[in-house]
Amino acid sequence: MSKADTVFQVRSDGISAEGVRDQYADGKAAKVWEIFIGDKKSRTENYRNFLVKKLRENGVRRILDVACGTGVDSIMLVEEGFEVVSIDASDKMLKYALKERWNRRKESNFDNWVIEEANWLTLYDDIQHLLNGGFDAVMCLGNSFAHLLDNYGDQREQIQAIRNFERCVKPGGLLLIDHRNYDNIMNTGATPAKCIYYNSSHTTDIKTSVLYIASKPALVTLDYQISTGKGEVSEFRLSYYPHKLKVFEEILRSIFRDAPSHETYGDFKPLDRVIQPAFYIHVIKKASA
Ligand SMILES: C[S@@+](CC[C@H](N)C(=O)[O-])C[C@H]1O[C@@H](n2cnc3c(N)ncnc32)[C@H](O)[C@@H]1O
Repeated sequence: MSKADTVFQVRSDGISAEGVRDQYADGKAAKVWEIFIGDKKSRTENYRNFLVKKLRENGVRRILDVACGTGVDSIMLVEEGFEVVSIDASDKMLKYALKERWNRRKESNFDNWVIEEANWLTLYDDIQHLLNGGFDAVMCLGNSFAHLLDNYGDQREQIQAIRNFERCVKPGGLLLIDHRNYDNIMNTGATPAKCIYYNSSHTTDIKTSVLYIASKPALVTLDYQISTGKGEVSEFRLSYYPHKLKVFEEILRSIFRDAPSHETYGDFKPLDRVIQPAFYIHVIKKASA
């Protein structure tokens, strides 16, 4: 059992304590996630424009989405004509992506969409057969990476996961990875409910709890409240590691040595154009061979 688990229950009922900690394994969050993100076509324009432009101007054709969840980002990219391989550790989340692929299998882009179960800690070995010299871009978006907790107090598993991401990027390719603005969440004790990714019309409230271990913030728990319509409110709980911007940038720098560029955006805008963004998005280029 991890350090954090001994003092704080992060899992929903019924989730095994062994293996990958799949916070979505009881299916509860997966089901509500579909409501939370709204219509899969309904991405915020800012996000779609930012992502597609960034990928196209870097000549990206083949993408690995390492946190595809129910498939929302991957579907958008398949529709945009990119070649996409999507992985996720949660079969409860993947089942929605698999269903969409099946429903749209007559469209050749969807027929070619590869979806597999894999875990970031073993990613490079898990997807050897799909690497083909590496992907033009690897992406881990939607505050997904922060799900990986710091079980040993030295961020070793987070570093291992980012090393795996780096190994899956081909020389000259990109990693796009994001996290919420935990510096601000720590300072204010609150999490903004607005989402820069999805145009969900369902009112969302997010209650924030922070667990400190040895006076350092070690775990943030967000209790989401989603209005499912007809006056009903559905709730689910997810836990995250509170990444500090400077530390996260330093980890990326240490893994992507000699990176020709490392850009950090706030809510998809240059940092000098946004005050206290809800999310930080890192776009880092791997050095050419
Ligand atoms: C917040 S969801 C986001 C999904 C999608 N990108 C979106 O924006 O809707 C995070 C996803 O990360 C996945 N995940 C968490 N830890 C993982 C791990 N160690 N390996 C692979 N996937 C993981 C979860 O199963 C979940 O589907």
